[in-house]
Amino acid sequence: MRFTVPLLVLALSFSLCVSAAKADRKTTVVILGAGLTGVTAAKALALERNITDFLIIEALPEVGGRLKQSSIGGYPIEVGGNWIQGLGTNPIWALAQKYNVTNRFSNWSSIDYFDGGGHDFDGKLEEAFARYEDEAMPKAEEISDLRQERGQIDLNFRAGLNLAGWRAQTPYEKTAEYFSFDWEYAEPPVQSSYIQNINSFTYNFEGFGDENNNFVYDKRGFRAIIQGQADEIPNFNDLILYNQTVTKVFYGENGVNVLTADGTLIEAEFALCTFSIGVLQNTDVLFEPELPEWKKDAIANFHMATYLKIFIQFPSQFWNETEFSVYADPDERGYYSVWQSLSAKGFFPGSNILMVTLTSDQAYQAELQPEEEVTAAFMSVLRTMYGPKIPDPLEVVFHRWTLDPLFRGTFMNWGAGATVAQQNAIRAPIPDPDTPSPKGQRVFFAGEGTSRKYFGYLQGAYFEGRLASGLIADCVDNGCLTSEKTAYAKREILEEKTKKRKLVGGGLRKPIFK
Ligand SMILES: Cc1cc2nc3c(=O)[nH]c(=O)nc-3n(C[C@H](O)[C@H](O)[C@H](O)COP(=O)(O)OP(=O)(O)OC[C@H]3O[C@@H](n4cnc5c(N)ncnc54)[C@H](O)[C@@H]3O)c2cc1C
Ligand SMILES: *[C@@H]1O[C@H](CO)[C@@H](O)[C@H](O)[C@H]1NC(C)=O
Ligand SMILES: *[C@@H]1O[C@H](CO)[C@@H](O)[C@H](O)[C@H]1NC(C)=O
Ligand SMILES: *[C@@H]1O[C@H](CO)[C@@H](O)[C@H](O)[C@H]1NC(C)=O
Ligand SMILES: *[C@@H]1O[C@H](CO)[C@@H](O)[C@H](O)[C@H]1NC(C)=O
Ligand SMILES: *[C@@H]1O[C@H](CO)[C@@H](O)[C@H](O)[C@H]1NC(C)=O
Repeated sequence: MRFTVPLLVLALSFSLCVSAAKADRKTTVVILGAGLTGVTAAKALALERNITDFLIIEALPEVGGRLKQSSIGGYPIEVGGNWIQGLGTNPIWALAQKYNVTNRFSNWSSIDYFDGGGHDFDGKLEEAFARYEDEAMPKAEEISDLRQERGQIDLNFRAGLNLAGWRAQTPYEKTAEYFSFDWEYAEPPVQSSYIQNINSFTYNFEGFGDENNNFVYDKRGFRAIIQGQADEIPNFNDLILYNQTVTKVFYGENGVNVLTADGTLIEAEFALCTFSIGVLQNTDVLFEPELPEWKKDAIANFHMATYLKIFIQFPSQFWNETEFSVYADPDERGYYSVWQSLSAKGFFPGSNILMVTLTSDQAYQAELQPEEEVTAAFMSVLRTMYGPKIPDPLEVVFHRWTLDPLFRGTFMNWGAGATVAQQNAIRAPIPDPDTPSPKGQRVFFAGEGTSRKYFGYLQGAYFEGRLASGLIADCVDNGCLTSEKTAYAKREILEEKTKKRKLVGGGLRKPIFK
C-alpha cells in the first residue's frame, strides 16, 4: 500500500493528533537502522524484555550498516569496520567467538619502514615511532589524567602532545605521530580532543583487559555478528522493512511518525534512531519539528571522521612478508603512509592484496577522484617504496563513505572543544528529556557516536543499543519511570549557561597596573 500526502498537511495533522493521517504500519517501537546498534537493541527488546511489537526500517537490503563486506579477486574484504579492538571482556570479542567469526591477531611488530629514498635502512622512522610510543604517549596520558583530576579544561591533542614534550618536526616524527594517532582516530591531533581521545585509548585498549587487536577476514563478513543476532530473533523477517529510506521523522508528545522515500508512513509510540552523527548533521533525514537547540548544538560539535580503506590486488607480491609497511612521505604528512599486507602468513597468503588507508582531508580528496587518479597517486608512492619496476594493479576496491548519504563518513571523533554535556545531549531523547514521562521521551538516539567511552568503535554501538533499548522498554512497560536517567542532558546545558562568567564594566577588561 502506497500512501502520499503533502508534507505540510501531514505535519499539521500530526501536531493535532498522531493518527489523523492514515498509517501503513503501526507498531510500538520503530527502530531506524539495522546496523549493530539497531539489531542489538531489537534482540534485547525481544529476548530480554519480551517486547516483540517493533519494526526496523533499513535503507539497504541487508542488516550490517558499517560492517560492510566486499570482495577483491574473489577474497572477502571489509570496507568498513575490520578489527576487534581490545579483546578480553569486549562484548564484540564475545560475539565474534559466539558466531565463529574468522579473525587473527594483528602483529604491529611485523613492520617495515620506508621513506622518500625507499627502504628506511637508517631506522629513522622506527626510532621516531619508538620515541612517540614509549616517551610521548605515557607522558601525554599522565598529564591528561592530572588535568582531569584537577578539573582543568580539555585541550586539543596537539597541545597535549606539546605539553608531553613531543614536537613533530621531521617527516619521520610526523609519520610516527600519524600512524599512532590519525590512523586510529581518522583526524589530525589539532582537531581532536586531548582528554577524550586519551580516555578512548584507555577504555578501548586497556579497559577490556587484553589490548590486542584482531583482524577479521571471514567469508560471511564481519557482519555475521549482526546477522547472527538477527537470526535469534523469532520471525525477524516480519519485523524489518528493507530497502526503505527514511526521509522524515515527525515527533511530538503523543508519538512518532516515520515517512520513507516511497511514501510509506509508519506510526509508533517510540522510536530509536541509530543513524550516524554524519547523517544527523546533514539533511538526508529531516525532523519535524526541527530538533531542539540543545540537540542541534551537540550534534554539530562532534566530528564525523573519515577512514578510507583502499584494497589493491596485484599480479604478484613485490613486498616483504611483514604485515605492515609504513612510509614517511618527505612532503606531505600521512600521505599513503600505512600499508597492510593481506598476503601475510595466516591471512590470505598468495592473494597479492595490499590495503592502504587515507584519513580526513586526504580521504575526502580521494573520494572525489575517479579510481584512475587514486591509482596513479598510490602507484607513485609504491614506486618510491619498492622501485619503478613493480606491476600495475589488477583490481582496486574502496567505498566512498563520506559521499554515501546513509553514513556521511565512517565514525565519530571527539573534536577539540566538544564537552561531556554535549555528548549526553546527543543521546538524550526528544521532544524533551526533562518532561515527565512518557511525553518528553519519544525518540531515543543510540549508536557508535553517542558513546562517551567507546565512540568510533563497535563496542560503542553495542553498549548504546542495549542502553537505549532498556530505556525504551521501561517506557513501554512502566511509562518511562527511569526518566531521571535520561533527563540529564538539558539540565547540564543549562548549568553550563548559569556558570558562564558575567562580564562587568560593559565587558571591557581594565588593566590592573598602570
Ligand atoms: C571504514 C571503517 C572502519 C572502521 N573500523 C572499525 C574497527 O576496526 N573496529 C571497530 O570497532 N569499529 C570500526 N568502525 C566503526 C564501526 O563500524 C561502527 O562503530 C559501527 O558499525 C556502527 O554501528 P551503528 O549501528 O551505530 O551504525 P550504522 O552501522 O551506521 O547503522 C545505521 C544503519 O542505518 C541505516 N540508515 C542510514 N540512513 C538511513 C535512512 N535515511 N533510512 C533508512 N536507513 C538508514 C544504514 O544503512 C545503517 O544500516 C569502522 C567503521 C568504518 C566505516
Ligand atoms: C510475553 O508477552 C506476551 C504478549 O505480548 C505474553 O503473552 C507472554 O506471556 C509474555 N511472556 C513473558 C515471559 O512475559
Ligand atoms: C531489496 O532490494 C534488493 C535489490 O537491491 C532486492 O534484491 C531485494 O529483494 C529487495 N528486498 C526487499 C525486501 O524488497
Ligand atoms: C568455525 O569456522 C571454522 C573456519 O571457518 C570452521 O572450520 C569451523 O567448522 C567453524 N565451527 C563452527 C562451530 O561453526
Ligand atoms: C610479531 O612479529 C615479530 C617480528 O616479525 C615477531 O618477532 C613476533 O614473533 C611476532 N609475534 C607473533 C605473536 O606472531
Ligand atoms: C625485505 O626483507 C629483507 C630481509 O628480511 C631485507 O633485507 C630487505 O631490505 C627487505 N626489503 C624491503 C623492500 O623491505
